[in-house]
Amino acid sequence: MAKANAPVSKNEVYEVEFSDLTHDGSGVAKVEGFPLFVPNGLPGERAMVKVVGVKKGYGFGRLMEVIEESPDRVDPPCPVYKKGCGGCQIQHLSYPGQLEFKRKQVKDVLQRIGKIENVPVLPTLGMGDEPWRYRNKAQVPVGEREGRLITGFYQKRSHEIVEMDTCIITGDTADEAIQVVKEILNKYGITPYDEARHKGIVRHVIVRFGKTTNELMIVLVTNGKDLPNRKKIVEDIVNSLPQLKSVVQNVNTKKTNVIFGDETKVLWGSEYIYDYIGDIKFAISARSFYQINPQQTKVLYNQALKYAELTGDETVIDAYCGIGTISLFLAQKAKKVYGVEIVPEAIEDAKRNAELNNLDNAEFAVGESEVVIPKWKEQGITPDVIVVDPPRKGCDEALLQTIIEMKPKRVVYVSCNPSTLARDLRILEDGGFKTLEVQPVDMFPQTTHVECISQLILKEGN
Ligand SMILES: C[S@@+](CC[C@H](N)C(=O)[O-])C[C@H]1O[C@@H](n2cnc3c(N)ncnc32)[C@H](O)[C@@H]1O
Repeated sequence: MAKANAPVSKNEVYEVEFSDLTHDGSGVAKVEGFPLFVPNGLPGERAMVKVVGVKKGYGFGRLMEVIEESPDRVDPPCPVYKKGCGGCQIQHLSYPGQLEFKRKQVKDVLQRIGKIENVPVLPTLGMGDEPWRYRNKAQVPVGEREGRLITGFYQKRSHEIVEMDTCIITGDTADEAIQVVKEILNKYGITPYDEARHKGIVRHVIVRFGKTTNELMIVLVTNGKDLPNRKKIVEDIVNSLPQLKSVVQNVNTKKTNVIFGDETKVLWGSEYIYDYIGDIKFAISARSFYQINPQQTKVLYNQALKYAELTGDETVIDAYCGIGTISLFLAQKAKKVYGVEIVPEAIEDAKRNAELNNLDNAEFAVGESEVVIPKWKEQGITPDVIVVDPPRKGCDEALLQTIIEMKPKRVVYVSCNPSTLARDLRILEDGGFKTLEVQPVDMFPQTTHVECISQLILKEGN
């Protein structure tokens, strides 16, 4: 039945032409001006589409057949992509096509949400010919099939776990480690967590590894402190994975989608693993944020260094600093760097990382950036450059006001969400800053996630 005023009906098939892509990678086609969002459709393509849902003002479709292919269409190399794995969204789009999709998305959102016009959005810096096997972390949910514990992925838009042995964006190290852990958990009859009944033991298996050091950490997230045969499980894991440096248990008893709980315990080895970005060595513990694509992280941080324009005399504030990665990159070229971060373990890592690299001009504080930085202002700290790298929700408005009052010469804004970047750039522009340029960096090939870095300067007379 067609909904009132909708020119399409559910379950009917239409021939359409795609004109655009949404931020989540669906093709956009119009039937008599009525937009249909269709996963896997690409701009320029003609296709047969079955309508699967009709809402007020728009609908959803399923791609049945492509009649005229876009030159940007490629055959996705990953077998589970076609089965509806939720990890990647645009494997069917050529890599140059993905880079342009991301640049265009940033440009559109800056204009639409931030009214930021005439600011160059540069071509996305990508991974060249090898936009695969880039992740240094895999976090896989645990489920059950025929009485056995399986590891896999969540089917798109659901919590159904589909078994998966290999992930083409993570690569062999993580694949092997996950299979090993899965077999060991099965050997000792460990039950998978069942979300619906809130019963069972293991919720997630997380593998973190240093791409430059090959050091490996395994984290078992459990629904309670109890892990039967814990000693034997750990012994078997240690004996099976030569690069292993750390086995950690994290306890999460909450009914939540959030992966980590509050309690973390080292079961074997070290509390952290090491990795290098450029010349700087980082210690990374189980719960600390660490960029997942180290090759592109170097590109991103070099861009941060370029935009900070340091000569050696500057005081820098790095807000949302994680384990101090950007702070320490900049500390090599600045007089003094202050970093602030909300996760206490990350700040412990940041302090350890400063020592590890003999950088004694970096100071770190635990807390909310919007609370700590105003205090630094009261204490008379006057930064020349402020770097922000907030989570997806962007900067707290109180922090933006403090930045406006502190009047640094430059602001470097690193963002993983163009919408909140656009909103915050508008506030900073209204407060006396000018955005000079925005550089998208592809940290997450094959997915629709977009990372950007932008440089702002204080306008004359402010
Ligand atoms: C996108 S990460 C950036 C980390 C770091 N700059 C990096 O490149 O590795 C954002 C960080 O902000 C932290 N965070 C979230 N809310 C915060 C707040 N209100 N104040 C300070 N840090 C916060 C998170 O724990 C996370 O480490």
